[in-house]
Amino acid sequence: MSALMGVSRLFAVIGCTLYARGPERRLQRLREAACAPISSAMAYTVLDAAASRFPDYRTPEHNVLERACLQAELRAALTGLAQWPPQRWAEHPDYANGLARHWQEIHRAMVHNLGIVERTLRTLAEDGLSDADRVRLAGEIAPIARHAVDHLHGHHRLEDQSMFPQLLRAAPSLARPLNLLEADHIVLNAVLGPLERALANLPTADAPASAWDEIAKAGERVARVARRHIEDEEEIVIPAVLGVAR
Ligand SMILES: [Fe+2]
Ligand SMILES: [Fe+2]
Repeated sequence: MSALMGVSRLFAVIGCTLYARGPERRLQRLREAACAPISSAMAYTVLDAAASRFPDYRTPEHNVLERACLQAELRAALTGLAQWPPQRWAEHPDYANGLARHWQEIHRAMVHNLGIVERTLRTLAEDGLSDADRVRLAGEIAPIARHAVDHLHGHHRLEDQSMFPQLLRAAPSLARPLNLLEADHIVLNAVLGPLERALANLPTADAPASAWDEIAKAGERVARVARRHIEDEEEIVIPAVLGVAR
């Protein structure tokens, strides 16, 4: 519901209830009516925000939390991908010394680091480590995980504010696929939240392995979502970066 519709509905409900029985009853109904639209507004979710960039985003076929690949309808907009699929990108004359290779190397580094974070946090959450090893491993992985989180935030910000607008000017057919990627960034930022909060409040040295389970799950979720997003992002943007999409 738009803000304007919400306000209209609020006034309509208030208008109907003001003339109900007795002043106290009217006041009570006024309070109830005033609360309803405000509660609806508070229920605005991450997926609502993502859907504001890509209207079909709540469907499992598009939502990065659930999708298995890019849908055919989106692939149809990717001019250049059929001729230049991922296994051929390195053959393109502009690949080796250009942005495409650089961008892929950044992605590979992020996926690699997230894999280390994911596996190490899971190890910390399992029984079998000595207390000394757990303390050492926790001390090693915490700064790597914080760096991975910061890198993801900075990377997405750069793409949203600079790279995607430039690509859209070069290849207008990418408008809808790029909107999907921007919606993904909203979800990625949201799944990074629990990991960031857990990193700011790590279990103490004498905590049991189970105390690491929540942060391990947060790390796994971030890594899984980032891998899906990056694979799909490359299929959308690399042909455009190589100049073979319009
Ligand atoms: Fe991205
Ligand atoms: Fe990216």
